[in-house]
Amino acid sequence: MIDLRSDTVTKPSEKMRKAMYEAEVGDDVYGDDPTVNKLEKIAAKILGKEAALFVTSGTQGNQIAGLVHCKPGQEVIMEAQAHLFLYEAAALSVFAGVQIKTLAGERGAMKPSDVEAAIRGNDIHEPETGLICIENTHNKAGGAVIPPGNMENIYQIAKRYGIPVHLDGARLFNASVATQIPVKEFAKYTDSVQFCLSKGLGAPVGSIIAGSSDFIFKARKWRKRLGGGLRQVGVLAAPGIIALEEENVNLLEIDHENAKQLAEGLLNIKGIVIENKVETNIILINITNSNKTMEIFLHQLKEHGILAGTFGPNNIRFVTNNSITKKDIDKVLLASRKILNY
Ligand SMILES: Cc1ncc(COP(=O)(O)O)c(C=O)c1O
Repeated sequence: MIDLRSDTVTKPSEKMRKAMYEAEVGDDVYGDDPTVNKLEKIAAKILGKEAALFVTSGTQGNQIAGLVHCKPGQEVIMEAQAHLFLYEAAALSVFAGVQIKTLAGERGAMKPSDVEAAIRGNDIHEPETGLICIENTHNKAGGAVIPPGNMENIYQIAKRYGIPVHLDGARLFNASVATQIPVKEFAKYTDSVQFCLSKGLGAPVGSIIAGSSDFIFKARKWRKRLGGGLRQVGVLAAPGIIALEEENVNLLEIDHENAKQLAEGLLNIKGIVIENKVETNIILINITNSNKTMEIFLHQLKEHGILAGTFGPNNIRFVTNNSITKKDIDKVLLASRKILNY
């Protein structure tokens, strides 16, 4: 199958599997797993943060950040289409006891002036603002890169009010590769960062959260409370090291090229509208004006050996990833043309 449902569908390479097999391990709850320790050190350095922590998933990393930064009864500001708001089962409210304040963004980016206006005052009736979250790249906005300048402006406002900033950087490396700006430059406008090893970077499991040593000390405790304190987990950290140290980061460039090639081809098929500016590895299409419903189109793509998914009521999402070749893109275009009779 040509699987374009997500970049989470990547499978570990031979090199990763070998590294897993050979990984030196210890009990990570005691801090004894050398492979985990190495991964955390590498990740902290890449992000320009004091310390990092290997966590089970992007969701767990985001939740831990919310739990460290916030107190129950506070409010968290984020963009209205943020993954943290739409797709984490209201976990921040459930676990951290906070409410979410969403702001309409443009291509995923909140206006700094809107963020400042949304920060709560000292009125006894109001919750305090406990955290500001930014998502980069922005999934729902079609893998849009939030420019570091926007992040810097929001960060400066946050600092003036003494509010921490968390970055949901599930696909931060895509933003970095697309702009040729080091991840550090994005991370410096944050107090904590989460990025996924198990998306475009191709590792099978896990995310990293990073921040100050104090943040990570507290994060480690929250990870334990959430049941995420794992033992000989170096076997899962080992492919993360390959993802960061070997070719995987640069390979994202190929995903981006494939996405552009796919978007350019789809653009010429009658009935397809591309809904996003394709900057990274995500393409959102709308086929309302075609002769097929989304369900039929997806079903027929599947009959051609191609998987994609719906993304909201009007969009189909294609996500290029390291299992996709240029030939696959040609096949997707051919099949789409056939299905839509053009
Ligand atoms: C922007 C964003 N943040 C967080 C996550 C959550 O990651 P995980 O699936 O590892 O929990 C995702 C997953 O798709 C995502 O796209």
